[in-house]
Amino acid sequence: MSDLPFTRTEIVSLVVRLTLVSAVTFWSIKWLLNQVDPTSKSKKKARKVAEEQLRRLGPHNNQVVPVATLTDYEMMIAAHLVNPNDIKVSWRDIAGLSGLIDELRETVILPIQRRDLFLDSHLTSPPKGVLLHGPPGCGKTLIAKATAREAGTYFINLDLSILTDKWYGESQKLAAAVFTLAVKLQPCIIFIDEIDSFLRARNSNDHEATAMMKAQFMSLWDGLITDPNCTVIIMGATNRPQDLDRAILRRMPATFHVSMPDVAQREQIIRLILDNEPIADDVDIEVIAKSTNGFSGSDLRELCRNAAVYRIRDFLREEIQQINSQAAREKNSPEEERFQEALRPITMEDLKYSFSKMRESKIQCGSLNISQRIDLD
Ligand SMILES: Nc1ncnc2c1ncn2[C@@H]1O[C@H](COP(=O)(O)OP(=O)(O)OP(=O)(O)O)[C@@H](O)[C@H]1O
Ligand SMILES: [Mg+2]
Repeated sequence: MSDLPFTRTEIVSLVVRLTLVSAVTFWSIKWLLNQVDPTSKSKKKARKVAEEQLRRLGPHNNQVVPVATLTDYEMMIAAHLVNPNDIKVSWRDIAGLSGLIDELRETVILPIQRRDLFLDSHLTSPPKGVLLHGPPGCGKTLIAKATAREAGTYFINLDLSILTDKWYGESQKLAAAVFTLAVKLQPCIIFIDEIDSFLRARNSNDHEATAMMKAQFMSLWDGLITDPNCTVIIMGATNRPQDLDRAILRRMPATFHVSMPDVAQREQIIRLILDNEPIADDVDIEVIAKSTNGFSGSDLRELCRNAAVYRIRDFLREEIQQINSQAAREKNSPEEERFQEALRPITMEDLKYSFSKMRESKIQCGSLNISQRIDLD
């Protein structure tokens, strides 16, 4: 025994030292790789945001999301989860689209919320893709916001800029994470606004990374379609449905056309916009609705906003002197109250003037057909 080159203690100490050196080397290399990884900062930040968001959202359907099991990529997507309490838009803020909203609720939201009612047949399961399309400014994004608030499910507002990464392979991993996260969170709605910018028709000029991402998106989406128990819905909005890839259109069987408002819808939209606004008795909403053929909801909002601004401009121009002299006399009344008293309500004249200015500019831009010109009075 005595002629062995090492004693027992020496061997033990050697093994301990070797273990220690390997552990230190392992952790150092891991730390170094982490530092070298260009996306590590954004991943850390996204993880923090996502954890906070998931904590604020709490469990849905008594189901707690296992945050620890989410990968870095899933966390980056989870940072875009929408908190319904942060959204101000509800169904009541959308005018003239009650038929479409009812249909959307019945085909998309109800099957998620009342799964028990739809279990008897696989044909009654919610569609995996919903497309809102129509001219600009007619309420597509508004409908999506209201859906996020009212659906009572997890809602991911997918910002496409996060899917595009300058590092090769990152985009594909993020695209895959959208689906794996949604499956972990289900029931879940993934909303992609202006979907045509991302999933437009594929062609041979596509960049390799974009083409790969599109193809991967489609195949993962197909995975959802073939799993009947999976309640993940992809909702897209676009005003250029003709630019979408045909394979994408196939994956969005439920399509809703949000059209230009007709006269009755315009009347409802104007009533909603002018609700709680000070309007004079001479304002005839029906007349404005009839004259604004070719105006979208967004145009009508702009028309009313302009009209509301005119009265402030008039007030500033003509009455500022008068108010100043009154202010000296009414020192006791609060400033804001005096201002409100001095402002006149929105008159029909304001609305007409706003309309004529907008109409002219729309004709010049070519966004309003000359044949649609109907004069007020
Ligand atoms: N039906 C409506 N009821 C009430 N407000 C409306 C309606 N449609 C449009 N608006 C007003 O127009 C604005 C723009 O609507 P929204 O963003 O939903 O348009 P969009 O259809 O998504 O347009 P785009 O295709 O350009 O994205 C809304 O913020 C709202 O003020
Ligand atoms: Mg929009």
